[in-house]
Amino acid sequence: MTITVATSASADEPLRLVELPAREVGRRDVRVRVRAIGVNPVDWKMRAGGPLRFAHRFVGPSGPLVVGVDFAGEVIEAGPEADLPIGARVVGATDFSRKQLGSYATEVVVRDEQCTGLPDGVSFEAAACLPVPGATALRALEAAHISTTVPAPGTRILVLGAAGGVGLVTLQIARALGLEAVGVCSTRNTALVEKLGATAVDYTKGDALAAAREHGPYDLVFNAVGTESYALGPSRALLRGRGKVVLIVVRPADVLSFTFSRQVTQVLGRPSRKNLDPLVAWLASGAIEPLIEARFPLAEAERAHEISKAGKVVGKLLLLP
Ligand SMILES: NC(=O)c1ccc[n+]([C@@H]2O[C@H](COP(=O)([O-])OP(=O)(O)OC[C@H]3O[C@@H](n4cnc5c(N)ncnc54)[C@H](OP(=O)(O)O)[C@@H]3O)[C@@H](O)[C@H]2O)c1
Repeated sequence: MTITVATSASADEPLRLVELPAREVGRRDVRVRVRAIGVNPVDWKMRAGGPLRFAHRFVGPSGPLVVGVDFAGEVIEAGPEADLPIGARVVGATDFSRKQLGSYATEVVVRDEQCTGLPDGVSFEAAACLPVPGATALRALEAAHISTTVPAPGTRILVLGAAGGVGLVTLQIARALGLEAVGVCSTRNTALVEKLGATAVDYTKGDALAAAREHGPYDLVFNAVGTESYALGPSRALLRGRGKVVLIVVRPADVLSFTFSRQVTQVLGRPSRKNLDPLVAWLASGAIEPLIEARFPLAEAERAHEISKAGKVVGKLLLLP
């Protein structure tokens, strides 16, 4: 048996479809027929090199690099101890540190705890938008001591990069939790940010951090863009109490800051059933409604990467195998 995956021999070569032998299913694994794949910037960053690619070389699976993390689909085979039955509709994420291939594939094999079931009303496409962005948003709130179930009244967050995959889901979680949110985006996205219940700050109109000060102080400054665009000093100045600046795009120069400042931290969003469950509940209730900018066949994964790299995607890109 073989599966079709998107891979490339080197970072410079375009992704193309190849056949690989299907993986065996372990005792607690499930084999999922993939129906939709959410594209994340990490998918193309992993191809280009850097610490993640380095880690993949050491602890990841051997063979060609199959990128991709997020997926939704149907269980078509289950190990004897797996707690998801054949036929279950699921959303989940692959993990190369468990020697798993990435999600740009017609099938994935993952541990049962890396997926969760989907209610009938939730589409594969909507679900596939969620794992990495949603898990990252929840981690950022937790890192700033903000409860993701019953947060303190008056909790206020600032999201830098509000219109991206991570930013939009963060604003929707904030709305579901009753947080006050301010989102920094460009002019074309201010109406969208306001529609999600947040106050929009347009970074094309001047110093966005200075403008955001008028709506602060904040319990979380969630920087989903990077410190080149939003420096740490002025970001920290917007905090109150035990508030934190949370980074998800880290430059070497930032490491000193989060090592020595209690106000700055970095997080890694790692999807698992524990964080997928509340996200799926929000999807089912309509509290989270992913915005899908475009869909591509898996064979056009390279095109999706080119668009994602340009840094202007609003919401999510999907691949359909
Ligand atoms: N550490 C982790 O676990 C983790 C997890 C997920 C993502 N990430 C990283 O976080 C970053 C964001 O991820 P993503 O999935 O949200 O990316 P994305 O969907 O590609 O984000 C694109 C959005 O960024 C906005 N943007 C670009 N420059 C901006 C600026 N200067 N200020 C405000 N917004 C700006 C754009 O909106 P405008 O047109 O309005 O500018 C665009 O809509 C990526 O670098 C990704 O690799 C890290």
